[in-house]
Amino acid sequence: MDEVEIIKLSPDRWEEYRDLRLRSLKEDPEAFGILYEDAVKEDEIFWRKLLEIAEKEIDHWKFFAELNGKLVGIVSARITIPAGDGDTVKVQEVFVANEARGKGVGKKLMNYLFKEISKHPQFKKAKIKVFTSQKPAIGMYESVGAKIVDKIEESWPDGRTNETYVMEKALP
Ligand SMILES: CC(C)(COP(=O)(O)OP(=O)(O)OC[C@H]1O[C@@H](n2cnc3c(N)ncnc32)[C@H](O)[C@@H]1OP(=O)(O)O)[C@@H](O)C(=O)NCCC(=O)NCCS
Repeated sequence: MDEVEIIKLSPDRWEEYRDLRLRSLKEDPEAFGILYEDAVKEDEIFWRKLLEIAEKEIDHWKFFAELNGKLVGIVSARITIPAGDGDTVKVQEVFVANEARGKGVGKKLMNYLFKEISKHPQFKKAKIKVFTSQKPAIGMYESVGAKIVDKIEESWPDGRTNETYVMEKALP
């Protein structure tokens, strides 16, 4: 019987975070705006810092899934101000390793994230941007109650563009 646990990662486990994040960018480059070639150049301070910021759970959140004791999934969120609305968090970095897919791990990560952010009553909704090509991700977001509210053309500094759905989920 598979055992899925959702955890926070202490900054001392930065290498595990880096390895899983790099794996996501290498294996599913079409799902993310960040490029593997850029992320792989980052050092220990960079990865540690991201976990340190998330550890405080004030304006960043980062949770991980372990399947039978092995790290297989990530979900992150951050507040969108100053660029956005004070009541909204933006979901990012969503990834479940290939061998762990289809077991409800992604759904568990998302629901855990929503539950934790709901402890801060000022946040009313989560916003998710997903490329229209990412059918499993769109299905997964819909399965946790997110709805497509817009379709936009996302542009990246290097000139790439992606047709993107903006999805929203009212927080419980
Ligand atoms: C998207 C992703 C995180 C889903 O993770 P997962 O653990 O396999 O998802 P779950 O097993 O929790 O599935 C939850 C729901 O998603 C939907 N879903 C999952 N895989 C799907 C697929 N291949 N096609 C359509 N819907 C799918 C289903 O509705 C499923 O609910 P159900 O099991 O009740 O039918 C994973 O496929 C992934 O990492 N993909 C690559 C990276 C990515 O696209 N990230 C999102 C960037 S915005």
